[in-house]
Amino acid sequence: MGFDFAGEIQDLGKEVKRFKKGDQIFAFAGKNFGAYAEYNCLPEDGQYFPKDCIMSLKPSNMTYEEAAAVPSRGILALHFLKKGNIRNGQKVLIIGASGGTGTYAIQIAKYFGAEVTGVCSTTNIDMVKALGADNVIDYTKEEYPKRGEQYDFIFDATPFKKGNRKSLELRCKKALTRNGQFISVDNGTPKSGTEDLNFLKEIIEDRKMKSVIDKVFLMEQLPDAHRYIENGHKKGNVVVKIN
Ligand SMILES: NC(=O)c1ccc[n+]([C@@H]2O[C@H](COP(=O)([O-])OP(=O)(O)OC[C@H]3O[C@@H](n4cnc5c(N)ncnc54)[C@H](OP(=O)(O)O)[C@@H]3O)[C@@H](O)[C@H]2O)c1
Repeated sequence: MGFDFAGEIQDLGKEVKRFKKGDQIFAFAGKNFGAYAEYNCLPEDGQYFPKDCIMSLKPSNMTYEEAAAVPSRGILALHFLKKGNIRNGQKVLIIGASGGTGTYAIQIAKYFGAEVTGVCSTTNIDMVKALGADNVIDYTKEEYPKRGEQYDFIFDATPFKKGNRKSLELRCKKALTRNGQFISVDNGTPKSGTEDLNFLKEIIEDRKMKSVIDKVFLMEQLPDAHRYIENGHKKGNVVVKIN
């Protein structure tokens, strides 16, 4: 299911004020599944939930492919890090650091001034470090959280099933500081609107955040794209291109 897309405004309703014809935009189409359509119709002021649509001007320093990856995973990462009330100097552990949500979460947590530890597999260590993580735990070789380490915020950004999330939560709660918090990416849905997407656009244009694109598939290869995503180990994001 495609959540996000980027493209150019072809036509406008009479009362639209924020956009003009030809504007380059990036958007979250949510569970309306409009992200794979050639044309989509969205209100200018939406909301992540329950409206399932948000649209902003595309960051000027991103390609359509890079921008199309941002909205849902970027907003999710921002939403949960804000819930964690991340402040300068705090220690943050991001599990699933090499995935769609995780790659944005590393960069946003660094933007907020946190000391970030990312958890990923061996092949993704260099990528996670390059995105700004101060420390990396290779979950194929080491246990996490590391014994004796304490974190102010632990973010579970994995695609784990419910039961696995619960056992991870129990393990992680022992590694929290006194007022520390553990949050899983499935723990609630953002209610945010355009302001969050605009914030992401600003930090992207400020060169504080970028998209990691693992693969770009053509529309004709859509089943391959879904099979690739479903194995749970994509690096950052997968994009589908409509010619
Ligand atoms: N709350 C909401 O409204 C909402 C909306 C959309 C999605 N979600 C949730 O967000 C989840 C994450 O989506 P995503 O696209 O960001 O995921 P993704 O890109 O598929 O992320 C996969 C990540 O999980 C890591 N991983 C896989 N197996 C692991 C293991 N055994 N131990 C530790 N890490 C492991 C991968 O690391 P390696 O590749 O390095 O192994 C990778 O970093 C979804 O599955 C969904 O549950 C929530």
